[in-house]
Amino acid sequence: MQRGDTTMLGVSLIGEHPPNHFVSRYRDGWFLEDVDGNRYIDWITGWASSPLGGNHPELVAAAHTALREYGTECLSALRTWHHYEFAEKMNQIAPAPLSKVVYDTTGSEVVENAVRIMREAAGPGRPFVITFLGSFHGGNYGTGAMGPHNAHYNHFIEPFMSGWINVPFPTCYRCPYHLQYPQCDIACLDYIEEMILQYKATPETIAGVNVEFIQGENGIQIPPAEWPGKLADLCKKYDWILYNDEVQEGVGRTGKWFSIEHYPGVEAELLSLGKGISGGLIPFACTLGADRMSEPAGELYTGGTFAGSPVGCMVALKLIEIMERDKVLDNVSEIERVAKAKFGAMRDKYEIVGDVRVLGAYMAVEFVEDKDTKKPGHELCREVVYALERLGVVPIYEPAFNWFRPTPALNQPPELFAHGCDLVEEAVVEVSKKYGKGMA
Ligand SMILES: Cc1ncc(COP(=O)(O)O)c(C=O)c1O
Repeated sequence: MQRGDTTMLGVSLIGEHPPNHFVSRYRDGWFLEDVDGNRYIDWITGWASSPLGGNHPELVAAAHTALREYGTECLSALRTWHHYEFAEKMNQIAPAPLSKVVYDTTGSEVVENAVRIMREAAGPGRPFVITFLGSFHGGNYGTGAMGPHNAHYNHFIEPFMSGWINVPFPTCYRCPYHLQYPQCDIACLDYIEEMILQYKATPETIAGVNVEFIQGENGIQIPPAEWPGKLADLCKKYDWILYNDEVQEGVGRTGKWFSIEHYPGVEAELLSLGKGISGGLIPFACTLGADRMSEPAGELYTGGTFAGSPVGCMVALKLIEIMERDKVLDNVSEIERVAKAKFGAMRDKYEIVGDVRVLGAYMAVEFVEDKDTKKPGHELCREVVYALERLGVVPIYEPAFNWFRPTPALNQPPELFAHGCDLVEEAVVEVSKKYGKGMA
């Protein structure tokens, strides 16, 4: 079978149309292999769900043991020892005041349920939740309406579920007010008090705020350093519960165990993890909560048959052990250093590279037709991604966007990561020549 030629199989898959041209057959460590044996540097890592790369042997062994010991269990019927072991570890590493754990299966489910816990804790008469335009919180009806993430990806979720109040995020490269930081004085945050509280909802009808501090799917939008603190102050002022969705940015992706740790003094009363927490082997998610949140999910039924898989608990524990033992967060700092140097130099050098945003191993490279007007370079980005695929690297990329996201495993050797960055430069040069674009 030729790369991408699945027609001879006589079947097709419904729903997903990934932009890559090959069918993957193996994933090991930091590489993918297609059906013809071509190898690629894996910068997708199961959409940021495999912090230690593909099928890490110690994680696979932990999963085997847990499968032999238990397999699946339904939390509505029984709690297992594994749930307590995982909760104990979370208690040790989670930032204050997070002390409780409630389990779930996927990121989309865990976010919806966290919001229900938030509303329960806020008390009656507070149906509204503030969310940020461009954030991605999941793909089902509730979460799909929360950011919402992007007009191209909301189809048939409309008409949106009500209850979410969507407000601007500080997407500074493309400021919604066409202002410059720091002169802007973070005007976008004033929208909440000046517009929402004036026209849409009084403060005492709002349960809280759901925020990704770094918007991942929106092209790694990193807010000004003081923005999270200002948001937290607003929450204190109005007695709103601050809920931090770290489904993608947690578990070391940004260089700290939890991205909220980048912002000293900022405390969330709810915080969700998913994706990477179980090493990319088992769908597993959880929300950590402060004491005043209900006894894990109190009167609420939040789980599902597979919520809080005992196998997921054991793989997650092993993942944390390995990351601590191997000092994986130090490796993330190295990846960050290489990314800032290499991609930063490309932004300075090439006309088509408009912006580069990096925090830890969370990063995006954005393409423009013109550096001054910042006209989005969708076609340029697509061409760079395809050239890169031919050179043997596959990043996270969606055709609706003019950026791609190199998403290496957190333990990818910095030299290999640097080699991938050099291949990006080769692709940028190739596409710049093809489109008659030059140096910046
Ligand atoms: C911040 C965030 N929250 C929630 C989700 C949804 O997770 P899942 O795809 O596991 O449902 C995602 C997925 O990308 C995410 O990035």
